[in-house]
Amino acid sequence: MCGIVGYIGAKECTAILVNSLKKLEYRGYDSAGIALFEDDRIKTVKAKGKIDEGLMKRLAEEPHFTATAGIGHTRWATHGEPSDINSHPIGNGRVSIVHNGIIENYRKIKEFLTDKGYGFESQTDTEAVAKLLDYNYNGDPIDTIIKTIADIEGAYALGIMFREHKNRLFAARKESPLIVGKGNGEMFIASDVTAILEYTREYYLLEPGEIADITSDGVKFYDIHKNRIEKELQTADWDISAAEKGGYAHFMLKEICEQPDALKKTINPRIKDGVPDFSECGLTDEKLRNYHHIYIVGCGSAMHAGMVGKYVIEKLARTPVVVDIASEFRYRDPLLAPDDLVVIISQSGETADTKAALELANSIGADTLAIVNVVGSSIAREAKMVMYTLAGPEISVCSTKAYMVQAAFMYLLAFRVAYARNAIDEAECRQLIAELAEIPSKVQQCVDDQAQYQKVASKLMSADSLLYIGRGLDYALSMEGSLKLKEISYIHSESYAAGELKHGTISLIEEGMPVIAVATQHDLYKKTMSNIKEVKSRGATVIMVCSEDMKFDEADNDSPVDYPVMLPLARDLLMPLVAVVPLQLIAYYTAALKNFDVDHPRNLAKSVTVE
Ligand code: F6R
Repeated sequence: MCGIVGYIGAKECTAILVNSLKKLEYRGYDSAGIALFEDDRIKTVKAKGKIDEGLMKRLAEEPHFTATAGIGHTRWATHGEPSDINSHPIGNGRVSIVHNGIIENYRKIKEFLTDKGYGFESQTDTEAVAKLLDYNYNGDPIDTIIKTIADIEGAYALGIMFREHKNRLFAARKESPLIVGKGNGEMFIASDVTAILEYTREYYLLEPGEIADITSDGVKFYDIHKNRIEKELQTADWDISAAEKGGYAHFMLKEICEQPDALKKTINPRIKDGVPDFSECGLTDEKLRNYHHIYIVGCGSAMHAGMVGKYVIEKLARTPVVVDIASEFRYRDPLLAPDDLVVIISQSGETADTKAALELANSIGADTLAIVNVVGSSIAREAKMVMYTLAGPEISVCSTKAYMVQAAFMYLLAFRVAYARNAIDEAECRQLIAELAEIPSKVQQCVDDQAQYQKVASKLMSADSLLYIGRGLDYALSMEGSLKLKEISYIHSESYAAGELKHGTISLIEEGMPVIAVATQHDLYKKTMSNIKEVKSRGATVIMVCSEDMKFDEADNDSPVDYPVMLPLARDLLMPLVAVVPLQLIAYYTAALKNFDVDHPRNLAKSVTVE
């Protein structure tokens, strides 16, 4: 998704803006630009394409200039194709803006302004806001911004410059996140704290409807009635190394390798006296006993973590759980009631559909628990209860460590629900926690054993299409494995409940088609093995991800498995946390062998803040 940065201080700011924009590259974008105060004008340099190929080349062509204040943007096209003209900043010489989000009534504003004699160059919704700011401009930037945002509908985070106020930057937001960073004699704007971590860890979080008036010495905040607001300074507990590659070829690989640590950081503080403890968010046993239904809602990998949660909660607590894709949940008029619990899972805490699902649940009066990675994000703030996953920044668009800790949270929740509802006793709960605490070392063993995944990847890289199959928890895991592979290697893949193959999909199997079978559940092993034999006998090349006690003889020509991937043993219920690692690494190496831009897969954005 789009990214916003801004700087005002004493330093030459082009390099700072570009550097901060590069920190936002992970969010996904297709053009980039900056606007700076230069003498008495606003100078804009922007270009389609990646920063290095587009914006940097344009900057190199410019005659020498210096500037100490400006705004910058990485754009992920929504209204209008990726092009120079549609790139931000957008303005008319007197006003320049960068914008994240979508302006829903931009057509109406354009019509209104066209009648007033304004012309429009771009196809963007953003230009309507820039020109409306110009139309409303009365010499007072705050009045102008207040008047303008009163007329716009939709989601926005805005960085704004007025030519006549060259010692000030302005920011405003509704829905889309925005922060104001505080340095020493310098201030920043950013849509994401990772953009400015190199310069400062201190920041103010702009709330919806708030406006910031920023100089190099500080910032004043206003509400939409022009009342001054006092805000608390926050400190990011992520350091810059967390947002850098640190010698790894890609962020995705780094983040896969960070999983043992991320698991410990997420799990350990939530264990008290040997059992999971949710008191930090106010989720009591009494509440857990009284909820009628539990819903788990998220998108993509977050929803897949919810699938693991469903299996585990139902298995241990014998309580029905409904897992929903957020974009479906929000429109399907779910049978929600005030005595239900809705668990909302999101790494970014900004995903538009997930946020809408949360708002719906809140409006019905259900209890809402957000499991979120980004501290202070919209979902974290709007949920009635919040628990953070503490995985540190996830930069790779393809989620790995965030999924891992979300899934780990599902176990903590399942154990506590089961314990609160007397489905398991304290001894069993302690035993489960003790075994969960062993998982980081097993994940480490998988991470250390990369050669076997490279070998599998070398077999997959030329495939056009493949299937992931599994049963029960292995099916939930197959969904995540399939998503990882397709999103970064661009190989078509689908996940199927192994027993469902015979009902149509098996007709796709032909000679050499890879099938990745996940078989970590001992009680379902024989069933899955029958499905493996069915695909093998129709020509599939079978890769089987299974526990190390499910032995295969690779030399045995009758074995239906071509490439076994062995996993360290853990209780079957906990195996998804272990088995996901090979699936992540197989996807990673397949994409890396194909020389794809693993961290920035095409068409994707890290945080999907538009519907
Ligand atoms: C897949 C992936 C996405 C996200 C989904 C939800 O690798 O990253 O499927 O899981 O967009 O994002 P969050 O968790 O930020 O709500």
